[in-house]
Amino acid sequence: MSAEIDATTLMKQQVGKAAADRVQSGSIVGLGTGSTTAYAIQFLGDRLKSGELKDIIGVPTSFQAEVLAKQYGIPLTTLDAIDHIDIAIDGADEVDPQLNLIKGGGAAHTREKIVDSLADLFIVVVDSSKLVDKLGSTFKLPVEVIPMAYAPVMRAIQKLGGKPELRMGVKKAGPVITDQGNMVIDVKFDTIDNPAELEKTLNNIPGVLENGLFVGVTNLVLVGEVKDGQPSVREIS
Ligand code: A5P
Repeated sequence: MSAEIDATTLMKQQVGKAAADRVQSGSIVGLGTGSTTAYAIQFLGDRLKSGELKDIIGVPTSFQAEVLAKQYGIPLTTLDAIDHIDIAIDGADEVDPQLNLIKGGGAAHTREKIVDSLADLFIVVVDSSKLVDKLGSTFKLPVEVIPMAYAPVMRAIQKLGGKPELRMGVKKAGPVITDQGNMVIDVKFDTIDNPAELEKTLNNIPGVLENGLFVGVTNLVLVGEVKDGQPSVREIS
């Protein structure tokens, strides 16, 4: 462990490793997106390389996950070639006490929801800053929208009491474009009292592909913590 690694990076590494350690040989593994899951993918690759883990196959949730999996030597498949997923590992932007999530900070929530929902065991890996009492308190809710419908979808979201913002690119003029060629609207809600209802209501707006509320999908959350400079992993299930 290097003293130069900051506490957040240390927490992400710890949970990434803890999640990768739970994968068994012969498993079909959903590979999530984001900086925390990136460590899980790296540690899975390490275990494969050392021979400790054998015959796993990954289902990537994004272009990023696919590139990382290839880099770390994890064979990949697609959903039409398999009939189940044993375990999925993915990050989150917020986790509430019922283990409901906000995801989509990396604009990958649509594919993530498909893959994570199919897994027999869905493990969420986060650092302790992601735990909240109520969803929406620290993070805007991402909504993936078909480009031609972004304006009416934003108006419909305003009618629901949300404050929508089209997500703009960094080092790219114009909006962020998802792996599916769509746009993302980030929505600030004053409170999200009923995540299950809001998830359905948003997905019912014509032009919305998927939103970042994950309700009733999570089986286990691994939380990275650092106390007195010592990293540890807490389980919430
Ligand atoms: C990707 O769209 C997201 O759902 C990520 O899983 C989420 O933003 C967590 O990412 P970090 O682990 O980088 O915080």
